[in-house]
Amino acid sequence: MDIIGGSSSQLLASRIASESGARLILTEFKEFPDGEQYTRILGRPGSDVVIVQSTVTDSDFITLLQLIDACEGAEKLTVVVPYMGYARQDRRFKEGEAVTSRALARAINADQVILVNIHNEGVLRYFNVPVENLDATRIIGEYLRDMRLPNPIVIAPDGGAMGIARSAAEIIGTEYDYLEKRRLSGDEVTITPKNLDIEDRDIILIDDIISTGGTISEAIAVFRSRASSIHVACVHPVLTGNAVLRLFHAGVRSVTSTDTIEKGTSTVSVAPLIAERLRQNNQNI
Ligand code: R5P
Repeated sequence: MDIIGGSSSQLLASRIASESGARLILTEFKEFPDGEQYTRILGRPGSDVVIVQSTVTDSDFITLLQLIDACEGAEKLTVVVPYMGYARQDRRFKEGEAVTSRALARAINADQVILVNIHNEGVLRYFNVPVENLDATRIIGEYLRDMRLPNPIVIAPDGGAMGIARSAAEIIGTEYDYLEKRRLSGDEVTITPKNLDIEDRDIILIDDIISTGGTISEAIAVFRSRASSIHVACVHPVLTGNAVLRLFHAGVRSVTSTDTIEKGTSTVSVAPLIAERLRQNNQNI
């Protein structure tokens, strides 16, 4: 098996190659003066090829399409998109809107696509090829458990993240709850305070994505004066602009995330999870 690391997932692709004992193929990325991208695979991939590329930006998506095209002729092509951007544009909210996640899903041509905690599983039906969605909450839960917080409770900032909070809480061996969120704009939300008994608890706020940090900062404000400590975790650390500062300024003690997007907070790697799934898929052929 050959692993091809895309520009946005170089570390993760290298980790998956080490985990699975696969060959890591070198790739080259450049930009033309007009901003167009150039992508080249340096080396001849074998018959079983795996591309790893998160699509955080539009350019990342172009790179992914270029890599897929460059692999033309592979007998078996697996595309791993650890973080798939635009997944929150998963339906038509207003007349005339594009369902962008559908447009992108349809453009990914491979024998198998692997995603990690896609924002809405409904997006899976937009793919024209077999697709599976891995769940990283177990490995995040194990990391949080190993932090050995004295009196933890896991809280989701909205109902959508309740499943993640539940799985993490099960692994830590504690309770979970969720808050009610209403989005006012791209970076503004309101969170309705809930009557939770969090006196002297170590709160772990967990979400699938942290983007501007607006959701989590609002959630922190609900608890800050009563909790013993507040920690934050997510699968996908989009962390745009001043999101990290916003979180620490709001009072969190630690931020944990996976490496679906490679950031300073990416202390938990999804490489073992993806390597294991690639191994299982190869066994099932
Ligand atoms: C939305 O439903 C997601 O689960 C996250 O809560 C959201 O994307 C976080 O965005 P932000 O950090 O900008 O509030």
